Amino acid sequence: MPKKICMVFGTRPEAIKMAPVIKELQKAEDCFSLRVVVTAQHREMLDQVLDLFGIQADYDLNLMQPGQSLPDLGCRILSRLTPVFLRERPDLVMVHGDTSTTFLGALAAFYLRIPVAHVEAGLRTYRPYSPFPEEMNRRLTGALATYHFAPTRTAAGNLLAERIPPSAVMVTGNTVIDALLAVAARPDLRLPREVAEIPPGQKVILVTTHRRENLGEPLRRIYSALRLLLADFPDLWVVFPVHRNPLVWKTAEEVLGDLSRVRLLAPLEYGPFVALMRRADLVLTDSGGIQEEAPALGKPVLVLRDTTERPEAVRAGTVRLVGLDREKIRAEVRRLFLDEAAYREMAQAVNPYGDGRAAGRISAFLQWLYGYRAERPEEFGVGE
Ligand code: UD1
Ligand code: UDP
Repeated sequence: MPKKICMVFGTRPEAIKMAPVIKELQKAEDCFSLRVVVTAQHREMLDQVLDLFGIQADYDLNLMQPGQSLPDLGCRILSRLTPVFLRERPDLVMVHGDTSTTFLGALAAFYLRIPVAHVEAGLRTYRPYSPFPEEMNRRLTGALATYHFAPTRTAAGNLLAERIPPSAVMVTGNTVIDALLAVAARPDLRLPREVAEIPPGQKVILVTTHRRENLGEPLRRIYSALRLLLADFPDLWVVFPVHRNPLVWKTAEEVLGDLSRVRLLAPLEYGPFVALMRRADLVLTDSGGIQEEAPALGKPVLVLRDTTERPEAVRAGTVRLVGLDREKIRAEVRRLFLDEAAYREMAQAVNPYGDGRAAGRISAFLQWLYGYRAERPEEFGVGE
């Protein structure tokens, strides 16, 4: 009998990063019987990804509400997932990352004594409010999970230091690189029209922001830095696919809406977004996933946060933490655009996060765990 696995996710990045795992587990149909359960913590941004990868949800809880609060969302996830797990009685629940869906999905499974596998486990800042609430979501999920798929040796080291048994930890690489390489190889990859119109040779900064701790004043400082930079560099364009959170839209529109070399766009489908990352000269972001993807494409990233749970690319020199001070952000961008050597140093393609085979390792580990395969698979070893 194949083992029944419920894959639970709900936001855009979880869907991008779980899609390769779904594909791999579906290939091993003699070993696994999958149920895809989406909370739809995100609605439109999730659907974009499900469509792209051709994923059909077996359960769609359709939980998103405008301006959702953490307690309300958390209660809805816990109470609506529980009957699904009771009905399906899976052998394993798989969750991804550090969102409300991740933590409450793991908790719902734990309450029913269903083992949990955590994909993208072990990333830490060890600062409870940074990022908020993701650092704590990921730690709590780690405490609830039985199996931990760590993307890098650093992440695995964090788990071992927390006394998770080594037999339960597997270094896989990050599945985002699987998704990125698959999408980047598509022959029909196109830039969004608004970006294709920018004359070749002009500089493009790609911006994304959405972190809860950055909403309000910090976002205003970031966007003010961009205003100054647009005045500093007459050949500079800012392309900003804006997160659907209305609080992000509002501030972006207020500070940047009147500028001619700014393109505020609705969230892009993953394909055009990958094409945009390739076109960009520089990425400014507070996103987790983009910190992993842009280095693989050789794009320098300035991270609009004070800490990161993804130190590998910082160590490799392609990602730099610039914080949230307007003048600091401006100075860092100016330095990169005015000093060619400094730019070249950061624009190295590095792949500390994966080799495109993370999902295959996860599938192989689970096949070994359930006795379908004799050997524990080899771990992802590049980077640290
Ligand atoms: C969530 C995750 C965060 C992750 C991010 C990825 C939590 C607590 N936060 O943050 O870890 O990095 O997703 O993007 O789990 N909205 C829409 N349509 C959408 C998506 C969002 O309208 O498709 C709006 C809604 O008003 C929603 C709000 O954005 O209430 C915030 O969404 P929410 O999932 O609570 O938080 P994010 O900031 O997106
Ligand atoms: N992304 C996308 N379209 C966009 C912006 C981002 O497809 O308009 C992708 C991006 O390539 C990455 C993921 O969404 O894979 C990151 O999502 P987000 O920044 O919302 O979340 P985080 O990674 O910070 O949790």
